Formats: sequence, structure tokens, C-alpha cells
Amino acid sequence: MRVFVARRLPGRAVDRLRAEHEVELWTDQMPPPREELLARAPELDGLLSLLTDPVDADLIAAAPRLRAISNYAVGVDNVDLAAATERGIPVGNTPDVLTESTADLALALMLGIGRRIVEGDAYVRRGEWRTWGPSLLLGRDLHGATVGIVGFGRIGQAVARRCEGFGCEVLYTELDAGVELDELLARSDFVTLHAPLAPDTRGLIDASALRRMKPTAYLINTARGPLVDTDALAQALHAGELAGAGLDVTDPEPLPRDHPLLGAPGLLVLPHIASASHATRERMADMAVDNLLAGLAGERVPNCANPEVYER
Ligand code: DGY
Repeated sequence: MRVFVARRLPGRAVDRLRAEHEVELWTDQMPPPREELLARAPELDGLLSLLTDPVDADLIAAAPRLRAISNYAVGVDNVDLAAATERGIPVGNTPDVLTESTADLALALMLGIGRRIVEGDAYVRRGEWRTWGPSLLLGRDLHGATVGIVGFGRIGQAVARRCEGFGCEVLYTELDAGVELDELLARSDFVTLHAPLAPDTRGLIDASALRRMKPTAYLINTARGPLVDTDALAQALHAGELAGAGLDVTDPEPLPRDHPLLGAPGLLVLPHIASASHATRERMADMAVDNLLAGLAGERVPNCANPEVYER
């Protein structure tokens, strides 16, 4: 069967796909342009997509032979799940294998922004450091802080375990469990986002949510950029209404170089690398390939983001 793999993946997982199927691999560093995907769609039986590839209803409609979509991510907000389910196409994703790496990075952002690590590094490299000083680069401790976890799934819980090790008070909010979001925002020293991007979470942290946070608090986002209203966050940081933000994800991604958020004080920003360890990215590739092989073989996709496809 014919399969399109939308980028080179770490490790040797794609070789297992090649052993059974005709694989077209997109080798460019940038995502395949939409016209390219649409042009290939009519011939495709399988698609291995990345979070940068919108797999929307039009693309799915243009692929009448498509039997399986495998997304190289745990998040599937780039895929129109309803359109795939409607066509009976399972959509695989990569949960679990990236949980711990993502939680590690959330903690790294808390420490990085709270303890001003990147700022300190830049200060030394600029040659500005002359002597040890009692007030030099004072920051906020993570130990003993109150950490509010928005979204208490696998990753949120992994963050909680780490925070407990740091002696933090942990608050969380998840559907009908934990504390109310308003209370979490008002009490937390670090608010860390671990909810999936869905219609009800888009813009969850808007201007009014930011106003509820303490001016000494930090916002951490390793989930999806559009959970946060980017302009509202930029304004809050510029106005000193928030101590800082540690972001692995932004909206849009990447931010234009002249975006006001990039000029804001108290910002630590990374290029969406929470799962980017060698081991985790290889496990994600294995899982994505396993999902696709199962889907192409007409077997149940082991990690399926639209299991209702099997209830039809
Ligand atoms: C995901 O898997 O959804 C991450 O954002 C990238 O690993």
C-alpha cells in the first residue's frame, strides 16, 4: 500500500513501514505544502502526519483510499477527528511515551523562568558579571511554591509527582475534579497548562484569566499555544501584571520576530521541544509506525484517538 510520511523521523521505525509498504518520505525540514499533500492524497492508503500538517476534512475527502492516519504526536488538534471517524478512518497518536519528557520540560521552564537561568547565562556571556552580589538576579523558588496544574491527565499528573518532590503545594483542575480554575489561578505561584486543545480550551487563559493570577506568578505552557490568548499575555507581561511566562508552545508557531510577546520582560520561550529527547522521539516514531501498520492491516490501531471509529 502507498504511504506518505510527512517528515524524517528519528530512529529506524520507518524502515519497518518500508518493509511492508511503498513509502514516500518528505525529506525537507519544512512541512509539506498543502498543495503537495492534496496532490498526493488520491493515491494514499496511509498517512503519517506531524502536528504541523493540518489533516482537515478537505484533505481527508481528497484521499478516497485512505485507511489510516497516524499522527506523530499525542495531540491531535491538527486532525479533523470527526471527518476521519465519519469516513471510518482510525487516527493513531502517541500517548504515554512522551509523558515524562514533557513533565521534565515543564519543571525546567518553572526553574528556568523562576530562577532566571537563561537571563543569568546571557548576563555572564555578555561579560557583565563583575562580582557576586546579594541582590543579583533574585528569583522565585520552586520549592515551597503553589503549583496549579490545569488539566490533570497523564502529563499533568507527572508534573504533580515532580512538584511533590520539590515540596510544592499542588492544586489541579480537571473537568469535574480538583479546584475551580478561578481559585487555582488566584492561589498559584506557577500555573502550568496540560490540557488538550479543543473548542472549550482554546483561549482558556485569556485577559480575564491572566488578571486573576497573582502579579508575582508565572504561566507555564507545554501543551498547545492557542490555550493562551497571546496578545493578552504579551500585554500582561509588558504591564508587569505577571512575573513571567515559560512557554514551549506559542500561537502562532513560530512567533513572528517582531511579535510584542518576544519583547516582553520575564519571557522564556522554546521551540516546542517538550518531547524532544532522543529516546522519546524514537519511541514516538515506533508508536506512530505501529499505529499505521495496524491501521493498514485492518487491525485495531493500538493508540487510537477516535476509538468510536470501531463502534460504527
Ligand atoms: C505532542 O505530542 O502533542 C507534542 O506537542 C509534540 O511531541
